[in-house]
Amino acid sequence: MRIAFGGSQMNVRISGAGVPVLWIHGFPLSSELFTNQMSIEGARHVVPDLPGFGESDPFSAEPTIDLFAEAVVAVADALDLHQAIFAGVSMGGYIAMSIARHFPERVAGLALIDTRETADTEEGKKTRFEQASRIRAEGLTFLVEAMLPKMLSPAAMANDRELVDFTRSMMLTTSSSGAISALHAMAGRIDSAETLARLNVPSLVAVGSDDPITPRGDAERMSALLRDCELLIIDGGAHLALLEKPAEFNEGFTRLLERVAEQMNA
Ligand code: MLT
Repeated sequence: MRIAFGGSQMNVRISGAGVPVLWIHGFPLSSELFTNQMSIEGARHVVPDLPGFGESDPFSAEPTIDLFAEAVVAVADALDLHQAIFAGVSMGGYIAMSIARHFPERVAGLALIDTRETADTEEGKKTRFEQASRIRAEGLTFLVEAMLPKMLSPAAMANDRELVDFTRSMMLTTSSSGAISALHAMAGRIDSAETLARLNVPSLVAVGSDDPITPRGDAERMSALLRDCELLIIDGGAHLALLEKPAEFNEGFTRLLERVAEQMNA
């Protein structure tokens, strides 16, 4: 279905029945990232393409991470979902943490997947602005080829042609203007440590053991900040561990679903 927000007609996939889960993809990805999670039982899966990604057109104004968070909450509003589990991968995690900061009453549970709570360093911001200028000049392909070997493990890169092609073509659906806006938005985000320390809902922090973008140490720090958290390390996974190792991820996510369902029924 299509949901309008901020000048974008967002494409939203919906499947299943049970505890509502809003899945929020990373950069430069799309709702297809969660293809292997849609079969998790006991959940109503709601998966938008964020504005500027997948089949959703960009915002009409320059976005911030907080505006992406408002877009995701607008999806929940359009479906009459007062509370949900917000599950974000990487940039999607930055957005989920913004939702937890601005709309804590909407958060029944939180899953932070291959992400970090810290803001960008000055060096990191500089790299984002350089990447944005280069995308403006020559398009997204250079960034996709540079990021791909960090998204998937060396084993998958060498032996799983189908997964590599799937991931590459998902990344290439991102529009140049969407990627540039998201890079600027990520550079401007603030630290979320205090937000995590204040939250008191069931949560899951998951990370590929070999994630080179948001390494295991980031996950350990976030899980120490959260009061009611399971830390799941996915052995041999890289940045997109949930795509490459769905069985391991889905098992951990099902435990979060059960914890949230218990609290909702209490
Ligand atoms: C992502 O996967 O969303 C990005 O790698 C996040 C980032 O660049 O900080």
